[in-house]
Amino acid sequence: MCGIVGYIGHRDAYPVVLKGLQRLEYRGYDSAGIALYDGEELKLCKTKGKVADLKEKLESSISTKGNVGLGHTRWATHGVPNDVNSHPHYSNSGNLVIIHNGIIENYDALKKELKTRGFTFESDTDTEVLVNLIEDVSNKEGVKLGKAVQIALNQTVGAYAIAVFDKRKPNEIVVARLGSPLAIGVGEDEFFIASDASPFIEYTSNAIYLEDGEMAVVRRDKGIKVRKIKDDSLVDPYVQELQLNLEQIEKGGYEHFMLKEIYEQPSAISDTFRGRMLADKGIIRMAGVDDNIERISNAKRILIVACGTSWHAGLVAEYIFEDLARIPVEVEYASEFRYRNPIISENDVVIAISQSGETADTMAAIKLAKEKGAFVFGVCNVVGSSISRETHAGAYTHAGPEIGVASTKAFTTQITVLTLMALKLAKHKGTISHPDFMLLLQEMERIPGKVKLALGSNENIKFIADIYKDARNCLYLGRGFNFPVALEGALKLKEISYIHAEGYPAAEMKHGPIALIDEQMPVVVIATKKGHYEKVVSNIQEIKSRSGKIIAIVTEGDTEVRDLADHVIEVPETMELLTPLLTTIPLQLLSYHIAVMLGKNVDQPRNLAKSVTVE
Ligand code: G6P
Repeated sequence: MCGIVGYIGHRDAYPVVLKGLQRLEYRGYDSAGIALYDGEELKLCKTKGKVADLKEKLESSISTKGNVGLGHTRWATHGVPNDVNSHPHYSNSGNLVIIHNGIIENYDALKKELKTRGFTFESDTDTEVLVNLIEDVSNKEGVKLGKAVQIALNQTVGAYAIAVFDKRKPNEIVVARLGSPLAIGVGEDEFFIASDASPFIEYTSNAIYLEDGEMAVVRRDKGIKVRKIKDDSLVDPYVQELQLNLEQIEKGGYEHFMLKEIYEQPSAISDTFRGRMLADKGIIRMAGVDDNIERISNAKRILIVACGTSWHAGLVAEYIFEDLARIPVEVEYASEFRYRNPIISENDVVIAISQSGETADTMAAIKLAKEKGAFVFGVCNVVGSSISRETHAGAYTHAGPEIGVASTKAFTTQITVLTLMALKLAKHKGTISHPDFMLLLQEMERIPGKVKLALGSNENIKFIADIYKDARNCLYLGRGFNFPVALEGALKLKEISYIHAEGYPAAEMKHGPIALIDEQMPVVVIATKKGHYEKVVSNIQEIKSRSGKIIAIVTEGDTEVRDLADHVIEVPETMELLTPLLTTIPLQLLSYHIAVMLGKNVDQPRNLAKSVTVE
């Protein structure tokens, strides 16, 4: 939800901020803006549309000079995406300028109050209210910018990552965070500010991640001073060395990040195993689980909370945990969980799954579960993210940066981590026999190679995509472990091609969706061997007799479904429990190719954002 970038130092700020915005566009892309200070003037350019539109407009309208810059790429919350509502926002005097990621919930009351004191507003945003509140405080109290920001923030309710600049104090930028991420890149007499470290990795590998409730005055000449917003106490900032490299955040020859990330899955899954699984010795090491093994394996119930694709990974995990570790599992949308007065006890373990580690609803669900005494375990991809810090223990997925808005490698690596965890608990509890445990571990080790083989169907999938790209609707069916994969396949298609798609448990089809089936309707059926194969074959017959078009995901060498289906896509054979790691692959590729053929923006689908830091 919105990306923010800032620079103060000796370089030209414009190219740093512009490139930074391009890297953060995954966070929102309905409008963008940049403010530059050249030592005399504070100039601003903003526009509805993408960062590329901003570049064109800015370079033909204002000078790009200046060593201080703030930039913003927006995912609209308050006010439609247009030029005026785009950030940065000036204060009424024109002295202050702000960029903001988050929501100021009490902005309306603050706005009314400010109006009574003569402030006027151009935009519909909560952010313009905040910058004027800071100006009002600074006028009334005669305090420096840092203090004014602090006093103002203590009057707000909501979430924010902000950067504020005052042209009368040109050597400093004031930043603060509560609920939205903010990283400060520390260079030699220069500082970078961003929603994540990607905008500044080529300039410095030293970063400070502000904690919730902290603010910093970043001074070109004197360095950084961090303090708590609430009580003003000074904080000794921890300067972290970044592990990220430039190659990881570039497309590396692929046309889209999504395709690159789909193809990265064999190595991403291997990276998730690395150092954790010794298949031949029958060992799984996961520090976060090992250190809390009794607490987790004695759980009366495991509650999984997540959103979007991560929620689908949670559904797969439900089947796997119950099957292997025999612990009852419930999976909840984090947004529902947090608002429905759930029954949680100290005997519950909550697993929060989040690629970004920043999703606001998941974060709120964690806080609620902790308040009620549950033990909370996080499964995140982004190292050092808010959720990874808020949870009692956790395991990273090690998928590497995922930039395409539609999640791919995050999903398969989440399933990988959760499978390892379930296996570990099963072994500890004695709910799996040693031979079965060893077999599963050995098969897990073969999964990256099998994912690679599944990727080999790309050309066949492209051919099928071309036939069905103009479909208006699409149905996805799966059973057991593959029911959540059907949901995920449908979500992928919806997200990037805007074709209406529904995922269903195959047997539920006859309780409703079957009414939709006619010769226009493609139905993607996951029909791998084992499990409920024969039942799924019957479901395929039912579709066929209603003239539906069948695209079946089958086990290599299958002949029965091949005879019935209009198209088959093969995946290698594996143990039933591990099939989601393979069946997901063709569904990702199918939606990718359809979206490309329809000319959609695959990496930045309309209205979506990668990291949803608002409720
Ligand atoms: C957004 C993204 C999805 C993602 C979901 C949850 O909607 O577009 O791809 O699955 O958020 O995000 P998280 O980072 O918590 O996994």
